[in-house]
Amino acid sequence: MSNRFTIELDGQHVEAREGETVLEVAQRSGVPIPTLCHDPRLAPVGACRSCLVEVGGQGRLQPACAWKATPDMAVTTDSDRILRHRQILLSLYLADHPTDDAGAPLTTSDGNDLTTLAGPKAPLVLEKVCAPRADRHDVNPYIHFEPDRCILCARCTRYCDEVEGVNAIALTGRGSETTIGTAGSRGLLDTSCELCGGCIDTCPTGALHEKKAPRLTPAAYAKTRTTCNFCGVGCQMDLNVVDGKVKRVTSPPPGETLNDGNLCVKGRFAYDFIHHEDRLTTPMVRGEDGQLHPATWPEAIAATVRGLRAVQKRHGTDSVGFVSSSRCTGEENYLVQKLSRAAFGTNNCHQCAAT
Ligand code: SF4
Ligand code: SF4
Ligand code: FES
Repeated sequence: MSNRFTIELDGQHVEAREGETVLEVAQRSGVPIPTLCHDPRLAPVGACRSCLVEVGGQGRLQPACAWKATPDMAVTTDSDRILRHRQILLSLYLADHPTDDAGAPLTTSDGNDLTTLAGPKAPLVLEKVCAPRADRHDVNPYIHFEPDRCILCARCTRYCDEVEGVNAIALTGRGSETTIGTAGSRGLLDTSCELCGGCIDTCPTGALHEKKAPRLTPAAYAKTRTTCNFCGVGCQMDLNVVDGKVKRVTSPPPGETLNDGNLCVKGRFAYDFIHHEDRLTTPMVRGEDGQLHPATWPEAIAATVRGLRAVQKRHGTDSVGFVSSSRCTGEENYLVQKLSRAAFGTNNCHQCAAT
């Protein structure tokens, strides 16, 4: 039996696969449905209600992120009823949340403006329904939580549980006092938190954000995709640049690269060295005066070869060894062993990730 069938999406027949949600079918078909609590790495919870659609035969609007597609079902994603629902939803969110420091609207972490949720319908102006919540000070060096911007979508807590397997944070409190917290209200450094920062990346409102990064909308950063070189896994990451300087590191969206939207504490936060004043920007060779002097690469390589050959001449071929790094690519490590064996005639070569 084929596991493919068609459904009607806004009057068009589109292909669906068994087990897919309406949201997955819509995304594959290029039909936009707004989401906030959805993260493709996490089990759907239908918490934010921003993705509600009309499903034929269902009296109520249903969450596209959690509703499974079935053969011949008819789905409408864009009707007056849906826009009215999103308008009220957005109005309630805005009534409970501030605009950011620059007066800009709440912006999702993937760059979408929350106020576009209701399309052409402007949000209703409602009275504030909750008193502002005080920012919580946490001495950890990287992650800041602004309760006022939190919409309780639980993406951060579910990520911490389902992807990291750490459970450092959870929804705590009741009713309008509900917020994100830790066991015993401890600081993150006193919990099982690994400071992976994945909760920052998945947060759709910026309630969780990186302390040392400037508070800008995502569009203000120019992104350059690169490979993390802290270990041999080779995670892809995006350097976020402002005025020619790396100001933060984010992961590419889930599903785009092998690390699937995840980074570890080193890849995400340890980027200060890039612009550090002590960083070497040119090779240095020690002169006869005992001091290090800037040199060209050919000069530095020639000096290294002279030194290694001199040691071999005095103490024998196996008196030298080559230690490569897991921060190198596989190709670079191959070349180091080639250099060791073919050029210097020794099998004394090692790489710290060799297991
Ligand atoms: S940084 Fe990682 S481990 Fe720590 S709370 Fe966030 S998701 Fe959990
Ligand atoms: S901190 Fe962000 S991800 Fe976590 S519940 Fe609040 S809005 Fe959602
Ligand atoms: S994205 Fe579907 S309910 Fe939140």
